[in-house]
Amino acid sequence: MRTDTPVRDIPSTDIDPFSMESLADPFAADGAVREIAPVVYVAKHDYYAVTRFADIRKGLRNWRVFSSTDRPFYEDSEFRPRIVLFEEPPAHTRTKAAIMDVLGPKNLGWMGEYFKEQADLLVDGLMRDESVTADGYLDLSIGYVLKVFPDVIGMPGEGREALLKFGSAGLNAFGPASEHRDRKLAAGSEAVAWVEDNINRDALRPDGLGAQLYAMADEGRISENEARDLVKTVFAAGFDTSTSGIASMLRAFGDHPGEWQKMRENRDLVPAAWEEAVRFYPPNRFGGRWTPDGADVDGYRLPPGAKVLMMWLGAARDPREYDDPDVFCIDRPTPNGHLAFGFGLHTCAGNMVARLEATTLLTSMVERISFVERAGEPRTAINYQAFGHEYAPLRLHRA
Ligand code: HEM
Repeated sequence: MRTDTPVRDIPSTDIDPFSMESLADPFAADGAVREIAPVVYVAKHDYYAVTRFADIRKGLRNWRVFSSTDRPFYEDSEFRPRIVLFEEPPAHTRTKAAIMDVLGPKNLGWMGEYFKEQADLLVDGLMRDESVTADGYLDLSIGYVLKVFPDVIGMPGEGREALLKFGSAGLNAFGPASEHRDRKLAAGSEAVAWVEDNINRDALRPDGLGAQLYAMADEGRISENEARDLVKTVFAAGFDTSTSGIASMLRAFGDHPGEWQKMRENRDLVPAAWEEAVRFYPPNRFGGRWTPDGADVDGYRLPPGAKVLMMWLGAARDPREYDDPDVFCIDRPTPNGHLAFGFGLHTCAGNMVARLEATTLLTSMVERISFVERAGEPRTAINYQAFGHEYAPLRLHRA
């Protein structure tokens, strides 16, 4: 515990971050909780929200204090990960190294070439006329990710739409019981059978990332069950997050055509544009932790055994961290150290793949499209743990 600051009582709030109203505008809900205090007790669901950028980053640096072996809303289900995310060293060191090996530099080269080929095909196919109306979610994000992501893993072509329901249910599982959650989980259950069948060794193509994980089991680096769990984790963690991030990025450009012009004039801004997009619209709203021995957050004392949510979506708009946090600006003057991929021990294992996927599509688009504007009212998806768009209408003008 810090000794230079007196221990303060943690305020509680009756804002319900999981109400339908909050889910319709999580930036407003999480922003309101963030402005109460750095840590706030959410009485209705008996957990503590850590709300501000600096405190979340500091907390995530210390995985012993903010442990990920338990968290709020963590009942066992087919969507709860069994590996990596809720492990700690030494088990985590081994499984994370295995998955990072597969999702890292040794595969990024060929993946990048394949992503570019498919992104070019998709955008050329779409831009047959001088100006086209398209849905940034369905036509672009899903059209692209549902092709390239399962392909590089080595999943079969048939039935892969199941990933849409599986991903959405997975990220709705981590919140309170409600009609909304029941509906999403029921829809996701239909997809579970497909996922369980297709994470098996025999279902995967021999030249994909999934087969590489099973090859590690053959070498004795991980067990057969761990390989299977890692393939499932890749299915669960990699799809909905990437599609949400890409659709939200395209919506942001539709709302800010001037930012597209900046990128047209300077293609080197493509990587920074993606980083700003996931800062502005984080695809993942929070991460769960617990404090086995209690913890200090800026002078507030969390009790031993407290369940905690690190609210990184709200932190993405923290005015203590960013100038004009509610402005989408692809060339922010300061390095954009956002928390969209988490931070510390559990930093996203697929962040390089997601970055490659998104920046490759964006490059193909910026090469071919001179102007992007909004073509209707976008709709965000209602989800407990994910933030994304289910509809992002755009008018695209061919270069
Ligand atoms: C835009 C896309 C993505 C976003 C925003 C995202 C976000 C995140 C975040 C915030 C975490 C940390 C969770 C926590 O600390 O509680 C995480 C962890 C993880 N992500 Fe991602 N993710 C994305 C794409 C992917 C992809 C494409 C894959 C796999 C191919 C992936 C695999 C993982 C894994 C395995 C973990 C657990 C890492 C660990 O516990 O050490 N993610 N992701």
